[in-house]
Order: sequence, then structure tokens, then C-alpha cells
Amino acid sequence: MSELIRLEGIVKRFDDTMVLNGIDLSVEENQFVTLLGPSGCGKTTTLRIIAGFETPDEGRVFFDGKDITNMPANERPVNTVFQNYALFPHMNVGENIAFSLRVKNKSEDEIRSRVKKALKLVNLKGFENRRIDQLSGGQQQRIAMARAIVNEPRVLLLDEPLGALDLKLRQEMEYELVRLKNELGITFIYITHDQEEALTMSDKVVVMNEGYIQQEGSPQEIYDEPVNAFVADFIGDSNIVPGQMVDERVVKIDGVEYPCIDGTEEGFPPRRRVDVVIRPEDIDIVPYGKGQWNGTIISKLFIGVHYEMLVQSEDGKVEWLLQNYDQHDVGEKIGMKVDPENIQIMHKPKSDAESAIEIDL
Ligand SMILES: Nc1ncnc2c1ncn2[C@@H]1O[C@H](COP(=O)(O)OP(=O)(O)OP(=O)(O)O)[C@@H](O)[C@H]1O
Ligand SMILES: [Mg+2]
Repeated sequence: MSELIRLEGIVKRFDDTMVLNGIDLSVEENQFVTLLGPSGCGKTTTLRIIAGFETPDEGRVFFDGKDITNMPANERPVNTVFQNYALFPHMNVGENIAFSLRVKNKSEDEIRSRVKKALKLVNLKGFENRRIDQLSGGQQQRIAMARAIVNEPRVLLLDEPLGALDLKLRQEMEYELVRLKNELGITFIYITHDQEEALTMSDKVVVMNEGYIQQEGSPQEIYDEPVNAFVADFIGDSNIVPGQMVDERVVKIDGVEYPCIDGTEEGFPPRRRVDVVIRPEDIDIVPYGKGQWNGTIISKLFIGVHYEMLVQSEDGKVEWLLQNYDQHDVGEKIGMKVDPENIQIMHKPKSDAESAIEIDL
């Protein structure tokens, strides 16, 4: 795969507020890349800079190796679908989709065939003459997609396009989007603050916070190997606990020493204070006294396929979140055990203010 878009050292301030703190990002051709992060972290601003609706204060934007930092939005080979995709209510579906082609003075024949093709791609064949107010929310969302893809962009920028839909419809549309991307064979840059959406659809997830990129990688990498507590916390339910390296590949958490797979070579020498992530599904329950540490179950919830339990460790400092298929009772004393490869060691952030990206080496 070859690189299609590159952001280099993008800095953006609004008034005196730093919104993007030097964003470096590479997007490859045909990739489904998702920008994921909490509200206000700079996702939309990043997208608007790629689209050309916003100019960075510092840094460059490249497309296919060419510097497009100062290229006007309408000349860029990208199209955007916004969260508020406002269709024209007084035009029918076909006219909505045809609008941008009319502006470009395409012939009626070409317009008709491209609109037809776009409708087919979004699974709304034959909807040309429908009125906008006769469509469901999901159908309107598809029309918004059709309106963008009819321009045959090389990149589609999608800013929380499913935000307005209810959960079930959103999940359906997630599959639709992936199918659509594969059929079109184009690059998608997608914004969401929903971690599940990001993990389901993307080839690459870019986790942002406070104008910094925290981590980028495949969904699997981001989930299994979060680089810091922010990413671990944002990506799913986790146990994030303070620890300290006590030996090569041994970490001490809450008074107990655990073998792990990180050491000096990975940047975690003995005595270094660290954050540790252990996923709730990676803690095994064993008989009391037979594991690495002990605790008492203080609460239990059945959530569909498994139980979720809170376990107070015996020395009383850490409450562990566990997910387990087996039924255990509140008040029960249990032993717990975790495999070394399921103990994820992370750098502690330097300071809260600088956000978690500044790591203390
Ligand atoms: N035109 C503007 N003028 C001033 N401040 C702005 C402007 N646009 C964005 N901001 C600020 O920049 C920060 C980042 O905004 P941005 O829209 O990129 O966030 P976001 O990650 O898309 O958030 P959300 O998930 O809520 O859409 C916010 O603090 C926002 O208030
Ligand atoms: Mg936004």
C-alpha cells in the first residue's frame, strides 16, 4: 500500500487556545482510518484541515506526495459527510444527489447514470423520486453518503456520520460502511467518539486526546497494547493500576509480584514506576490460596453472556474488575491468576496538564 495523505507537524490554535499540538499522521490508499477521542480533542479540526476548510498555523498537508496545504477545498480530491448532513428538503432524493454534478455542468445522461449507480451502492435502488421527508433516519444517512460518493472522491471524510442514529441502526450501518468502502475501493477517514465503532470498522485507529495523537495502530494493537492509561481507559473496561518494576520482567502491584513480558529492553527497567493494565477477561478465578493473589467478591452483575464482578483484593487497596463465564457469589473468597502476556506495562504520564502523551523516560 502506498501513502495517500500525510499530515506533518500540524498545529492549530483558535484565539489563544492550542487545539492541535503537532499532529503527524499517515493515511495509506484504501485504508479505513478512524480518529477516535473524547469531545473537543480536535477530531473535526483535523478533518477540516484535510478537507481544506481550515488552514493550519504550522505544518503541512500532503496528498499523493504533493503539498496541498494551501489548495482550496473545492480542488481537493476529497468529499466530506458531516454529522449534520442537512439534505435539501425541497428536492427529491435524485436531485439531492445530483446537486454537485449540476454545479459542475455535467450532462443529463451522465448525471442520471451516476445518481443511479450511487443509489445502488447505498442499497437504495430506485429511490430517485422519493421525497426527503418520506425517508427514515437510516435512509437519509445513506442519501448523504450517496451525495458524497457520486463525486467519485479518492477519499471520503466522515465526521460522526452515524451519530444521529439509534444503536441498532448504527450497528447495521457499520457493516454497510465497510461494504461500501470495499466496493468503492477508496480511502475512508472516519471520526467517532465510540470505541466500539472504531474497533469494528477500522484498519487503523488513531486515538486522540487534547490535540495530541496518543496512539495509532490496528484495532487489535490498540486494544491489546495500549501505550498509556488514557488509551487503555478509553478503549474499554480495564483494570488500570499503579505498579513498580522490581526486577527484569517482574512488576509489583499492590504488594504482589507478577512476572510480565516487559523489561529494560522495552523501556521498563527495575525501580521504574509504571501504570499497569489488566483486562477483566484476562483474570482467571482459581480456588482461594491457589492463585497469585486473593480477594473477596463484592459485587456481581450478569451481562448477557458473562458475569462482571468487582473483587476487593485481600490487602484492601485495589478493586479488580473481572469478567467470567462462571457463576460466583458475592462474599465468596477467591484466588486470582493472570498470564504474564496479559499484563500490559505502560509509561506513566509526565503530568496531567500535558496529557498522557508526554512520557517520562
Ligand atoms: N472555529 C472555532 N473557533 C474557536 N474554537 C474552535 C473552533 N472550532 C473548534 N474549536 C475548539 O477546538 C477544540 C477542538 O474542536 P473539534 O471540533 O476539533 O473537536 P472534536 O474532537 O471534533 O469534538 P466533538 O467530538 O465534540 O465533535 C474544541 O475545544 C473547540 O471548542
Ligand atoms: Mg467533532
